[in-house]
Amino acid sequence: MKILIASKNKGKIKEIKKILVLPGVKLLSYEEVGEWEEIEESGKTYEENAYLKAKALVKRFNLAVVADDSGLEVEALGGRPGVNSARYAGEKATDEEKVRKLLRELEKVPEDGRRARFRCVALYLSPSGEVITAEGVLEGRISFEPKGSNGFGYDPIFIPEGNNKTLAELSLQEKNKLSHRGRAFRRLRDKLMAAFF
Ligand code: IMP
Repeated sequence: MKILIASKNKGKIKEIKKILVLPGVKLLSYEEVGEWEEIEESGKTYEENAYLKAKALVKRFNLAVVADDSGLEVEALGGRPGVNSARYAGEKATDEEKVRKLLRELEKVPEDGRRARFRCVALYLSPSGEVITAEGVLEGRISFEPKGSNGFGYDPIFIPEGNNKTLAELSLQEKNKLSHRGRAFRRLRDKLMAAFF
């Protein structure tokens, strides 16, 4: 059995390949099947976006697909940017611009009001339409200034619960052990094991 990973992000692909180990399953990436056009993430939920990505690729390659979608939910902002995390500071904004905008919005919010969480939905879709989903959450808080240079996105301002370093100050291995994406894909692996093996 073959499953295509619906991501063009090499870091994500590497991590998913490490987690989603299933007997007799070969995980494929765009490097093996060929590039695809950007897929519009127009859904209102992570699950919808993951499904849109997976559906477009199942149709294109006639393979089972795993896709994910994630975002950062800040309590003081009523859960924003959430599903719009990638486009929070505009379609073409850099990670640095997104971080700056978020810190500006939270300028007057004290330490105890800066709770936030990353959420990720991982989704499996087969060519026959079977869907299996799993969610992973990482609780934490937004720092007052960016720190660290590892990772991407909001990592330099996210401090995981029980930690005093930002995600960007942790090694990739340390981050992956905690991360919302790691948790979602480990749960998805368990659900696929239960369903198919
Ligand atoms: P994606 O849909 O999983 O690619 O994530 C959407 C957006 O959420 C990204 O562009 C990032 O801004 C943010 N995001 C998701 N996961 C992470 C993470 O692990 N660290 C930092 N930012 C993240």
